[in-house]
Amino acid sequence: MNPFTFLSPTRINFGEGTAAGIIDALAELNASNPLIVTDAGLFANGILDPILAEFTNAGLGSPTVYKDVPSDSDVDCVRKGIELGRAINADSVIAVGGGSVIDTAKVINIGLSVDGDVLDFEGINNLTDPLKPLVCIPTTAGTGSEVSAVAMIKDHSTGKKLLFGSRFLYANVAILDPSLLLSLPPRLTAATGMDAVTHGLESYVAMTTNPMSDSLALQSLSMLFTSLPQATKFGDDIDARAQTLLASTIAGVAFTNAGVGIVHALAHTLGAKFSIHHGVANSIFLPHGLKFNIEAAAERYAQVWNYLCTAASNQTSLNEHFSDKFVAEADPTKAAERLLDAVKTLTNLCLLPTQLREVGVPELNDSDVADLADTAMTDPAIMFNPREATPEDLVSIIKGAY
Ligand SMILES: NC(=O)c1ccc[n+]([C@@H]2O[C@H](COP(=O)([O-])OP(=O)(O)OC[C@H]3O[C@@H](n4cnc5c(N)ncnc54)[C@H](O)[C@@H]3O)[C@@H](O)[C@H]2O)c1
Ligand SMILES: [Fe+2]
Repeated sequence: MNPFTFLSPTRINFGEGTAAGIIDALAELNASNPLIVTDAGLFANGILDPILAEFTNAGLGSPTVYKDVPSDSDVDCVRKGIELGRAINADSVIAVGGGSVIDTAKVINIGLSVDGDVLDFEGINNLTDPLKPLVCIPTTAGTGSEVSAVAMIKDHSTGKKLLFGSRFLYANVAILDPSLLLSLPPRLTAATGMDAVTHGLESYVAMTTNPMSDSLALQSLSMLFTSLPQATKFGDDIDARAQTLLASTIAGVAFTNAGVGIVHALAHTLGAKFSIHHGVANSIFLPHGLKFNIEAAAERYAQVWNYLCTAASNQTSLNEHFSDKFVAEADPTKAAERLLDAVKTLTNLCLLPTQLREVGVPELNDSDVADLADTAMTDPAIMFNPREATPEDLVSIIKGAY
């Protein structure tokens, strides 16, 4: 067995109503004056109200809320957040939102905790000391950022996503309260959920996979195949919301310890260039990445497939959504093809687009596609992919996904 390290230091509080425990979570971290980071839409629809009420009830007054995070957050937004956090002398950061909010909060926390320009810490392992306490309260079920050691922020001047990766970027606490997801619309439920499915599948076949991340990846996938179509169709089903939320966090721990792959490399590149939601971009590239990898990872995909089949025999809801598809298969390549088929079915059940042309990507000439492929070749995600890809391979996947 290959040597590996596994780290997941974030405390997880899971359950309906757990967001109300925010004051206790802060107290345990010796903090009481947080900067709360969120976005305008979440603030307007009252998702933060129960959390803010806890501060009033505890006699802590009204905490400062920075609510200007756009989808695909950028460096300017981070800088403004740092300015606000410094002005109030924040002793901690709380993120309440999707991956965009959480990633922004992580990078704001760098600016609040260390001297120098935040961009000096871009890249992998450029932090040397612990940051201020960070509590993440996800309102989407997909990115796993609440348990990951990375944050991605767009640089509008280059149109690229900047990666910050460090063990000091782990949140101290992740509060998983499924009631905060009840307002998430079907399309975003589906798209964020497919991000989590991609984390599960890519981490299971990644070059640096290990038995601990494997077990988490399999668990997250069986939960997502069951609950994602349900949560997409019936957004007020709190059990389905709870399953997708927990599964996305589990997949987050898996990919943080095993890596992702070619699908994320392409989703990061085209997502940043054409402002495609991260989950939608993953969902479009997932069948193409899976097909490309079959010749190198058929056995691994077959293990996923046969695990899902066993899970399906215990869960009628899996069979309900996939009729009689979940039948175990001994031949690895055939099993991998069945998995590919099931991923396509899942995407269709979730009513997600399957082609780049459907999400506003303009017609691309050969030189545009070659440039995109070259950029994706430099994305760190690709080094974990089980099959080595050439720029020509990426060109053909991008064209196939168009
Ligand atoms: N750090 C990591 O480990 C990691 C991993 C994967 C993705 N990401 C990043 O995460 C970002 C995407 O995050 P996301 O997919 O969660 O989407 P998002 O954070 O961009 O949110 C999308 C939209 O959903 C809305 N929304 C969020 N929660 C809602 C709720 N409960 N009810 C109603 N509306 C709600 C938001 O207001 C926003 O308009 C990308 O920037 C991506 O790069 C980070
Ligand atoms: Fe992702």
